[in-house]
Amino acid sequence: MRNGTVPPRGLELSHAVNVEDVRAIANRRLPAAVSDFIDGGGEGEITLHRNRHSLDAIMFRPRALSDASTRTLATTMLGTPVSAPLALAPVGLAALAHPLGERAAALAAAGAGIVSTLSSSSCWSLEEVAEATPDAPKWFQIYVWRDRGITSDVVQRARASGYKALVVTVDVPVGARRERDLHNGFTIPPRPTWRHTGDMLGHLPWVARFGWDEMFGHGLTMGNFGGKAAVTQRMAFMERVNQRFDPGMTWDDLEWLRSLWDGPMVVKGITNERDAAEAVARGIDAVWVSNHGGRQLDGLPATIDVLPAVVDAVDGKAEVYMDGGIRRGSDIAKALARGARICMIGRPYIYGLAAKGQAGVTKVIELLKEQLDNTLALLGCASVEALDQDWLRS
Ligand SMILES: Cc1cc2nc3c(=O)[nH]c(=O)nc-3n(C[C@H](O)[C@H](O)[C@H](O)COP(=O)(O)O)c2cc1C
Repeated sequence: MRNGTVPPRGLELSHAVNVEDVRAIANRRLPAAVSDFIDGGGEGEITLHRNRHSLDAIMFRPRALSDASTRTLATTMLGTPVSAPLALAPVGLAALAHPLGERAAALAAAGAGIVSTLSSSSCWSLEEVAEATPDAPKWFQIYVWRDRGITSDVVQRARASGYKALVVTVDVPVGARRERDLHNGFTIPPRPTWRHTGDMLGHLPWVARFGWDEMFGHGLTMGNFGGKAAVTQRMAFMERVNQRFDPGMTWDDLEWLRSLWDGPMVVKGITNERDAAEAVARGIDAVWVSNHGGRQLDGLPATIDVLPAVVDAVDGKAEVYMDGGIRRGSDIAKALARGARICMIGRPYIYGLAAKGQAGVTKVIELLKEQLDNTLALLGCASVEALDQDWLRS
């Protein structure tokens, strides 16, 4: 799923010109089974690839001689001013990429003036991340666990720690069959076997850093749910999800969460415009169009293709965000032109983390901002808020 020219061999982060370059650096550092866990998708990865193909297929309609000498990327998300229409999506188990994981990502987002969403499946706890970024706007993402007591406890902790919005992810009723992970025998925590020896020997700095983190740091744990003590059994990611998450979740559970949370609520994982309308009818503040980066139900449409129908269904009564395959500033411009207010990124910032921790995430955010600004100039458009369907060929 390469998106860019072939990165030169031995490329360093300071010379990276696009997300694909950062991915190449990340993949040099990570064992293949870990890269596969990050890059992989559900079943045949049709949806994963569709996200990119559909973005690539969209064509711009620029306006010549329209004075784009000054441009602005600044906008707002649920009333919070942000430096660009970009935010970090929740990515669990970020310590796989770097021991400073979610904390480093949140610090990079704070430095760049954008919102980061902490996954409830983070290795660093929500309190630790909040303490590191006290003044930054932060959102918290939750899955509904079978144990409602655990769910409500973590939601209340997020509120007490100053997270501004609650993002409820609704596209993981069960774990998906991610075939790369099944082939690799990937477990949490990872189980090194003879089969993995070559892969591990080829990535000794990662092995050393990961081993150190397992012994003395956070390790690959559920920071919000008891940390290391809670991860006593090694099991496949899918099994872990199925043991904890509730496939019986309904719209009533969303209302129950609403009763626990007095701030804005966002529903993430919507690809059906009817669900978007239902969410709005139930007072949700923002609809996040997502197919989990192609990691859950395979055979879904690309998010960029369902976005216009969702925007129509929402009819201005809530904000609409989109993620899935965003790898360039021009992708953000396309999604905004189709009606998204903000684009989220998942894998791109995890590549940054793997490449160089917080500095790597900062680099990815900077690259996307530079590319978006360049796209606006080439289009002849002065502001991200002015982007609409008219800037695209239909
Ligand atoms: C390794 C990995 C872990 C993820 N963990 C979560 C999670 O804990 N909660 C969640 O709502 N989404 C999770 N996602 C999905 C992302 O939030 C996001 O929807 C997706 O990555 C966007 O697509 P992109 O990677 O192409 O940018 C994860 C994605 C990846 C790649």
